[in-house]
Amino acid sequence: MCLLGGLSAPPLLLLPLLPLLLCDCSFPPELPNAIQSVGDQQSFPEKFTVTYKCKEGFVKVPGKADSVVCLNNKWSEVAEFCNRSCDVPTRLQFASLKKSFTKQNYFPVGSVVEYECRPGYQRDHLLSGKLTCLLNFTWSKPDEFCKRKSCPNPGDLRHGHVNIPTDILYAAVIHFSCNKGYRLVGAASSYCSIVNDDVGWSDPLPECQEIFCPEPPKISNGVILDQQNTYVYQQAVKYECIKGFTLIGENSIYCTVKGDQGEWSGPPPECKGNEFARGAWVAHWVRPLPSARVMISGSWDRVLHRALCSAGSLLPSLSLPASLPTCDFSLSLSLSNE
Ligand SMILES: *[C@@H]1O[C@H](CO)[C@@H](O)[C@H](O)[C@H]1NC(C)=O
Ligand SMILES: *[C@@H]1O[C@H](CO)[C@@H](O)[C@H](O)[C@H]1NC(C)=O
Repeated sequence: MCLLGGLSAPPLLLLPLLPLLLCDCSFPPELPNAIQSVGDQQSFPEKFTVTYKCKEGFVKVPGKADSVVCLNNKWSEVAEFCNRSCDVPTRLQFASLKKSFTKQNYFPVGSVVEYECRPGYQRDHLLSGKLTCLLNFTWSKPDEFCKRKSCPNPGDLRHGHVNIPTDILYAAVIHFSCNKGYRLVGAASSYCSIVNDDVGWSDPLPECQEIFCPEPPKISNGVILDQQNTYVYQQAVKYECIKGFTLIGENSIYCTVKGDQGEWSGPPPECKGNEFARGAWVAHWVRPLPSARVMISGSWDRVLHRALCSAGSLLPSLSLPASLPTCDFSLSLSLSNE
């Protein structure tokens, strides 16, 4: 069937060729499992090309033509080109398709695709690394033919601990912690990751550094016994008051750790001047007279100007400070330095 088509006013020169040029094609042929999108257009001019698409579930067979062209009033020959295919091969976490298969999308029954291990994995040669397109157009089930590589043993952390929650295989994470009294310097965890085409730890072992307390606080009228240059966790510092002073509070404090800083367990003791130094002061006999001795935390080498008994009277033999004052019968003695 030859129609005028789109050429409404052909130039006179072309008139002798008109029968050839104006031959049109009718509706394009039906192809199995393929569709075209010409709509309801019924006539197609010379050289007009119709390209088909495969119906859902079908894939174009590579190398086969998928279009027809209108030539001399006839559509060109075209063979069936859509066929059933497996989907793109299963994506595997541990392996990727070999490059030669990645561009392919037509996988008829019986197609075999090959995989290679992803970085961090190594081939288990006892298992097949291939998948096959089965009769029902699904891929065969993959074995786990690539196994995670192992990172080297992280070793021991001096003054600390390496916690391995699962394993030390590729993608695993391990955690580090230091013993009490030590501060972690470095990364707190490390991943088994890709390092130079192999697997290795993302971070090296950290260091556990001993935590020191600040210098122990000084106190007035008292001294630190056996003072050290440094104090570490749980180490104590002991205080003593100089003669004539009384220690108030605990006589020692110790080094504790808060966060990763050392600090003292509490405030240091205080050394208070005893009442003897300030004025009237009562001493208690530990044994009845006359052989009793006075029990006081001050010292007797201070010059005493006055000694009074709370009851009774001082024995006349009193001579200070060479001998101890004694009261005739009372159990207490009041002393004064004024
Ligand atoms: C379609 O695939 C089958 C095998 O699955 C094959 O025998 C047949 O020739 C294929 N058809 C075409 C048009 O390629
Ligand atoms: C396809 O066939 C295989 C083996 O013949 C079978 O294991 C699988 O379950 C089938 N899949 C579907 C979706 O029918």
